[in-house]
Amino acid sequence: MHRFSSRTREDKLLWVLMVCVASLIKGAVGSEDLQLHKPPNIVILLADDLGIGDVGCYGNDTIRTPHIDRLASEGVRLTHHLAAAAMCTPSRAALLTARYPARYGLVADPILPVPVLIQITSPGGIPGDEVTIATALAAANYTTAIVGKWHLGMNCSLWGRGCLGPLRHGFHSFFGLPMSLFQEYADPYPFWTLPADTAVIQGLVVAGLVFMVSVGVARRKGVVDACGAASLLPVGLVVLFVAWFCVTHLPVSPWIQNHANSVLMRDGEVVEAPIKLEGFSQRLVAESRRFITEHANSERPFFLFHSFGHVHTPMFTAPHMAGRSKHGRYGDNVEEMDEGVGSLLDTLTQLGLENNTVVYFASDHGGHLEVTDDDGQRIGGHNGRFKGGKRQGGSEGGIRVPGIFRWSGHLPCGVTQHSPTSMMDVLPTLLSLAGLPPLHTLVPRASHKELDGTDISEILQGGAAESQEGRVFLHHCDSAIHAVRLVTGDHVYKMHLARPKWFPGSTQCGWGRGVICSCSGYGLVTDLSSRPELYDLNKDPYEDKQPISPESEEYKVVVKQMREYLEQWKARVKYPPSQLSTLANIIWRPWYQPVCHNC
Ligand SMILES: *[C@@H]1O[C@H](CO)[C@@H](O)[C@H](O)[C@H]1NC(C)=O
Ligand SMILES: *[C@@H]1O[C@H](CO)[C@@H](O)[C@H](O)[C@H]1NC(C)=O
Repeated sequence: MHRFSSRTREDKLLWVLMVCVASLIKGAVGSEDLQLHKPPNIVILLADDLGIGDVGCYGNDTIRTPHIDRLASEGVRLTHHLAAAAMCTPSRAALLTARYPARYGLVADPILPVPVLIQITSPGGIPGDEVTIATALAAANYTTAIVGKWHLGMNCSLWGRGCLGPLRHGFHSFFGLPMSLFQEYADPYPFWTLPADTAVIQGLVVAGLVFMVSVGVARRKGVVDACGAASLLPVGLVVLFVAWFCVTHLPVSPWIQNHANSVLMRDGEVVEAPIKLEGFSQRLVAESRRFITEHANSERPFFLFHSFGHVHTPMFTAPHMAGRSKHGRYGDNVEEMDEGVGSLLDTLTQLGLENNTVVYFASDHGGHLEVTDDDGQRIGGHNGRFKGGKRQGGSEGGIRVPGIFRWSGHLPCGVTQHSPTSMMDVLPTLLSLAGLPPLHTLVPRASHKELDGTDISEILQGGAAESQEGRVFLHHCDSAIHAVRLVTGDHVYKMHLARPKWFPGSTQCGWGRGVICSCSGYGLVTDLSSRPELYDLNKDPYEDKQPISPESEEYKVVVKQMREYLEQWKARVKYPPSQLSTLANIIWRPWYQPVCHNC
């Protein structure tokens, strides 16, 4: 048995080697051709809420992600790849702009900690003067498209007109979710419902009674006449209705989610509302396949951002995927997402595009450890041995994500790189790989925008990681900096300044449907800033051991250096007010709602 399995493994290795050699030869033959003609196509595959521990090639031996694993075996797998935030909106913004989202207010503040855009009618999002990967590639004559989840602001005008969303940021076309999948999309959504909280109902009843009694008393005392009293009644009813609506449906009820956010859009138009979840992942994949096929032989290269709805809640799969995995509904979702990856990779292969298409795969942040379904089943991801998860911007499990680059024939094949890298590196790296000018040349209006990502193409090419020497990563949780990472010599130091209060014996903040950690708040976060915890991740990657002793020389030198860096950063980079911690983001404003005209 053992000999048999080891032999299949050797066979596999041999096969991978052969594929690598073949594609290198093909790449070498084709490369002169390419340089004369056009830069490579670019495909970004982004999973939602997928944990690094949910992927076969990152060490999971029971879940089946053969297509992501294949991508890794044909490309470069990054083991120390970092999201800039542990929540969707800010992390995705950072990927697309190569800048910390705090620089343009796409993070929550501690007073009103709303970590993502929660209404399609919200005025927030990536500001118009930021430059995204799509803006840059469009400037380089690429045809650009996003299929799937956006969640970076639709900026609709009055009556839901002119919802440019991704089209304002360099994408020529958009098909998908303006927001995100949310659990409520799968829930029943009655409008006439009473809040579960009986205190609120009692409050409403008491308010109604008090109002009616006051009107009666006023009538008897002669303050109002019969006619006045009668006309006060509708006023009272309206007030009562508004009060009821506010407590029942604001900020977001299933009804609002399904009538406002659960919309499928093509470009600026709503084409389906609410979204039919059945077969939804397959429809997105079909759309991307169509885009690839249409542009396979065009003069211009294409850029496709396929942004999966999976594996965010709610958990739904096509019938052929349901119950297939060993990990319940969540595992089924992961495997369905992987099937989508496979389908897109197959399309590239069938069209002969493998050698002139750069593919990048990642997840927007770590798995959501706390979330459970109504029956108590866990429906969130798994971050391997890294501590913490989603909404924990300073904890490794929240930000250490899978990251794979493949460009057959041009990048090494089946290689693993351990240098720390960021999702913010993707923009400058893609431009460099494609042989395009740097961003500030390509888009001159961006010349004053300082990038936080760097070109890591040398690392991908297997070169030395010296370019990373002295690099500092800031780890924001909402707008606060919870941790700092410094790459120096043989060390990758990580300093924790704050940490969410974990449920004892765990690295998460409880269990339940809406449960998630906080980045701020009394009793919810442990402030470590007066005596930060310091780890050397090269010696203790999972932060299992005792932190480096504050008495040691090493601690004093490193912490001093990091604190100085932070002081200079804060003096130099001023964060604008939050775009998320606003009433306009929290409260649904129907007069900005895009509606479906042909549904
Ligand atoms: C594989 O992923 C599943 C689903 O998240 C998880 O329950 C399981 O613990 C993981 N296994 C390993 C070995 O990491
Ligand atoms: C894009 O196309 C225009 C005209 O077709 C050309 O002048 C320009 O140099 C191209 N830009 C790049 C970056 O290739």
